[in-house]
Amino acid sequence: MSDARVITHDVVIVGAGLAGSWAAMVAAREGVTNIGVLSKVHPLRSHSGAAQGGIAAALGNVRPVAGTGEDGALEQVPAGAEPPDSIDLHFFDTVKGSDWLGDQDKIKVLVTDAIEVIYEYEHMGCVFSRTDDGRINQRRFGGHSAPRANFAADWTGHVLLHTIHEQCLKHGVKFYSEWQLLELLLEDGVARGVVAMDIVSGEIVTFHAKAVLFATGGYGRAWKITSNATANTGDGVAIAYRAGAPLMDMEFVQFHPTGIYKHGILMSEACRGEGGYLLNAAGERFMEKYAPSKMELAPRDLVSRSEQTEINEGRGVGDDKQGIYLDLRHLGKEKIMTRLPQVREIAMNFLGVDIVYELAKIQPTAHYSMGGIPTDVDGQVIADANETPIVGFYAAGECACVSVHGANRLGTNSLLEASVFGRRAGYAIARFIKGGAKLAPLPARAAAAAQRARLARLMSRHENGRNVPLKQLSETLKKTMTDHVGIFRSQESLETALATIHRLQGDFQHVRVMDTSRRYNTDVLAAVEVDHMLTFSELVALGALARRESRGAHARTDYPTRDDNAWLKHTLVRQSSDGTPELSYKDVTIDWEKCPPQARKY
Ligand code: FUM
Repeated sequence: MSDARVITHDVVIVGAGLAGSWAAMVAAREGVTNIGVLSKVHPLRSHSGAAQGGIAAALGNVRPVAGTGEDGALEQVPAGAEPPDSIDLHFFDTVKGSDWLGDQDKIKVLVTDAIEVIYEYEHMGCVFSRTDDGRINQRRFGGHSAPRANFAADWTGHVLLHTIHEQCLKHGVKFYSEWQLLELLLEDGVARGVVAMDIVSGEIVTFHAKAVLFATGGYGRAWKITSNATANTGDGVAIAYRAGAPLMDMEFVQFHPTGIYKHGILMSEACRGEGGYLLNAAGERFMEKYAPSKMELAPRDLVSRSEQTEINEGRGVGDDKQGIYLDLRHLGKEKIMTRLPQVREIAMNFLGVDIVYELAKIQPTAHYSMGGIPTDVDGQVIADANETPIVGFYAAGECACVSVHGANRLGTNSLLEASVFGRRAGYAIARFIKGGAKLAPLPARAAAAAQRARLARLMSRHENGRNVPLKQLSETLKKTMTDHVGIFRSQESLETALATIHRLQGDFQHVRVMDTSRRYNTDVLAAVEVDHMLTFSELVALGALARRESRGAHARTDYPTRDDNAWLKHTLVRQSSDGTPELSYKDVTIDWEKCPPQARKY
C-alpha cells in the first residue's frame, strides 16, 4: 500500500457528532453535493450521544408564560414567583455561568438560535419527552433559572444524534467510519485538506478539500476520572495547534459533579434536576453550606468544588474516601423509570446498585473542555486577537471555542452549542463553496509519507535500548493532570505538572509500540492519541499557571478570587517558530449589542 491515494471533496468534515453532522446536513441541504465526513468511530457512537439530560432553549413550556387571560387582561406573574423563561434570561444565566468570560455577542446568538434549533429537531421527528398537553417537556438544570432543559428521558444526546444522522443520509452525505485524523494541511493561511488513516486497512490517505471543518470533540481523556469516551483525546485541538492555528482558553476544563465512582461515567445532572440529593459520609446534604439557595442545582463548578472540599476534608465515601453519595430514592420508581432509565441501568452495571432503593456512589469527573480552536459565530477559525480568518478552516462543537461558555459551561448548553454552531457553520460553508471557493493546491511536501514515517518510528526498536512502555507513560500523564491540573490548582501544582509533562514529552520519543501490523492497529492509534494528549496538556497547564485568579472551573488555591482588572480576557496560545508555546490575550466582548447583524439570518 503506497499511501499515495488522494480523495477530493468540496468539504471535509472531521467528526460525526452533532456539530459535524449538523454542518454536513445543512451544507448538503443548501446544495453542496460533495461532502465527506470522517469519524474516528461509527458516527452513531460519537460522544454527543452520551449527553443525557437535555438541550437548553427558553421555550417556556412548563412554566406559566405571561400572556392574556380569559378576559383579555395581561396575566401577572404572582409576586415572589420566578419570572417566566425568556431568551434574555437564558442569556443572563449563560453569561453569569461563564463567570463573565463568555463573549456576550456570541452568547446572544446561541440563546436566540436555540429556539429555532429545537423546533427544527422536532420537525425532523426527534422523539422528545412530552408534557401532558403534548409540548416538549423541560426540566431544571444547574445554573438555569427556569426549567429549560428540553429532554428525551435521559437519552437526549442519543436521540438528537440519531435524528441528525438520518438527515445526513437522506441528503447524501458520505461518511468514512473509523478513520483517524493525523494532520491538517494548512499553508499560507489557507486550509487545503487533511491526512487521515483508515483504521481498518491502515492506509494513510490525503483528503483534498476547499473547506475543512473540525468537529472532533473535547479533550477530557487526559484526566484519570473522566466522563469522556475513549475517543476524546483532543486530536483536533492538538493537530490544529501543530498546524499553526491558535487555541483559546485551554485552562478551563469542567468537572461534572456526578461521575460514577472510580469510573467517571456520566450520571446525568438530570438526577439533581429531578430532585436528587448529594450526601457526604455523615449523611449531610452538604450543599446547604456552599449554595444554600440553589443547593444541588448550583452551577457545576461550584458543586464539584464543594464535593472535592468534602472529600479533601475527610467526609468522602467509598474505600478510598473519594466518593460522594447521590440519593435518588425519594423520587420513586415511576419517576426514575420514566425520567432516568439510562442512569438506573448505568448504576446497576457499574456500581451494582438499584437507585430506586439504594444510594449511588459518585465523584467529580472531567467532563467538558471549554477551551479549543477559536472561531466566530459561523465556525470560521480565527488566527489572532483581531479575528483574522484562516481561509477554508472551520471548527464547531466541543473542539471549538466561540466562546459562549467562558470559564464554565452550564449543563445542556453543550448539545445546544454543537447544534447551533454546527448548523451555522453548515450555512457558512455552503456560502463559501457556492460563492466560488477554489481548491487550493496541496502542499508540496509529502505529508502522507511523513505521517507514515511518524507511525513507523513508533513501531521501531530504539537504538539506545530505551523503550518506554506507552501505558505507563499515559497513566503518569493522567495522574499528573488529575492531581495537579484538576479541580483545584496552585502555582506549585502547576509547575510540578509542567515539569512532568515536559519529561513525558521527552520519554515519548522512546515509546515503542509492539504491534507492527497495519490492519486495525489499536496500539499505534493509542500512541498517536497520547502524542496529542501530551501536546494539549502542556497548554492547559501553561494557561492555568499564567492565569493568577480563580474564575469558573479554574480554581487557584493561591489566587482564590476572580480578578477582572487583570484577567477579564481570553488566553490565546500558539506554537512559536522554535516549537514552544507562546501565550497572548484577547479581549472579552461584554456588550451583546455587538451581536452581528447576521445573527438571526442565514
Ligand atoms: O448531566 C448531563 O446530562 C450532561 C449534560 C451536559 O453536559 O450538558
